[in-house]
Amino acid sequence: MSENKKEIVLSGIRATGNLHLGNYFGALRKFVAIQDDYDCNFFVADYHALTTNPDPSQLHHNVKSVLAEYLAAGLDPEKSTIFVQSDVPEVAEMYLLLNMHVGIGELMRTAAFKDKARKALGLSQADDDNDEAFEKQIIGADTNKRVNAGLLTYPTLMAVDILIQKATKVPVGKDQLQHLELTRRFARRFNAFYGVDIFPEPTDFDFGGAPIKVPGLNGSGKMGKSEGNCVYLIDEPKALTKKVMRAVTDEGPQSPNAPMSEPIANLFTLLELCSTPDVVEHFRSAYADCSIRYGDLKKQLAEDILKITNPIRERINDILADEAYIAKILKNGAERARQRAADTLNEVRHIMGIRKF
Ligand code: ADP
Ligand code: TRP
Repeated sequence: MSENKKEIVLSGIRATGNLHLGNYFGALRKFVAIQDDYDCNFFVADYHALTTNPDPSQLHHNVKSVLAEYLAAGLDPEKSTIFVQSDVPEVAEMYLLLNMHVGIGELMRTAAFKDKARKALGLSQADDDNDEAFEKQIIGADTNKRVNAGLLTYPTLMAVDILIQKATKVPVGKDQLQHLELTRRFARRFNAFYGVDIFPEPTDFDFGGAPIKVPGLNGSGKMGKSEGNCVYLIDEPKALTKKVMRAVTDEGPQSPNAPMSEPIANLFTLLELCSTPDVVEHFRSAYADCSIRYGDLKKQLAEDILKITNPIRERINDILADEAYIAKILKNGAERARQRAADTLNEVRHIMGIRKF
C-alpha cells in the first residue's frame, strides 16, 4: 500500500451532542467521500468537550454517540483511522510542551475564546467592547465564575491534534479557521525557534464544491447544536416530520416571481440538499406562479430527509448496541494514531532538550 505517500487529512468533532444535518452535509459526508484518496484520520474530541461540558456521564455518552454517528454515516475503520482524542496520551504531553511557546495574549484574542469566556462570566457583547475591559473582567472574576484555563489553551490543544499527526489538510468549518491560522503560526514558530523543519503548515481543506452552510428550521441562520433548530441524524421519523412541518415560513408569494424571504430560501436550500432536482424544480415553479403550498413542500422535504437519515439512524442504533465492535474499532484506531503521535512526540522531546540519560 502506498498509504504513506497520501496526504494526511485530520479532523475532529467535539463530543458535545448528537450530530445534525449541518454536521452531516458540512463535514461528515465529505469525510466519507475522501477516504480512498487521502490518509484520513478522524477523531472524537473529548478533551475539547471538557472545556465547556464537564459532566462525566454526558461525556461518555457523547463520545459513544459521535463515534456511532461517524460509522453509521459511512466512515470506514478499514480506510480511515478513527479514534478518541484521550486515547492518545501523547497529545496531552505535547500540549504541555507546545504551551511553552504560546502567548496568553494571542490566545485571549481569539474570537472563540472571547465568546465562550463571555458566556462563562455571564457578560454580553457590549460589556467588553475593548480588550482592556475584557481582560480586567477575566482577571477580576471570582473563583465561582472563573474562565477555565483549558478554554484559553483550546487552540494549543487543537494545534497539537493536528501537528502531532503532521496533517497537512484539515477540513473544518469557517468558525475554526482562526484556530487553524494559530496552528500554522505555532508550527512556524516552533520550526524557527529550534531551527528545525518538523511541522508542515496545515491548510483548510475544501474538497470539491463551495462550502455549504446548512440553514436551521427557525427561519434564519445556520443549523447548530446550540441554536435549537436542528434536524438530528438520530431523530425518529415522527419527531423529525413534526419538526420539519413546524419550520418557519411566511405568508406566501404575493406576486409571480416574487423574491424569497430568508425562511423560504432556507427551506429551498434544504430541499436542494436532500431532494432530487425534479422535486426542487416542481416547487420552484410553484413558488414562481404563486400556487405553492408550503405544507406540501415541508411534507416532501421531511420524506426526503428521512430517505437519507433512516438508514443512518438504524445503523447508529445497531452500532450503539454493539459495545464489542466499538471497543475493537477504538483499540485499533488508538494504536494507529499513537504510532505517529509517539514518533512526533519523541522528536519534539529531543528537540526541546528532554533527552534520556
Ligand atoms: P455545532 O455548530 O452544531 O456545534 P460543530 O461546531 O461541532 O457544530 O461542527 C462540527 C463540524 O460540522 C464542523 O466542521 C462544522 O463546520 C460543521 N457544521 C456544523 N454546523 C454546520 C452547518 N449548519 N452547515 C455546514 N456545516 C456545519
Ligand atoms: N475545534 C473543533 C470544533 O470545535 C474540533 C477540533 C478539535 C478539531 N481538534 C481538532 C478539528 C483538530 C480539526 C482538527 O469543531
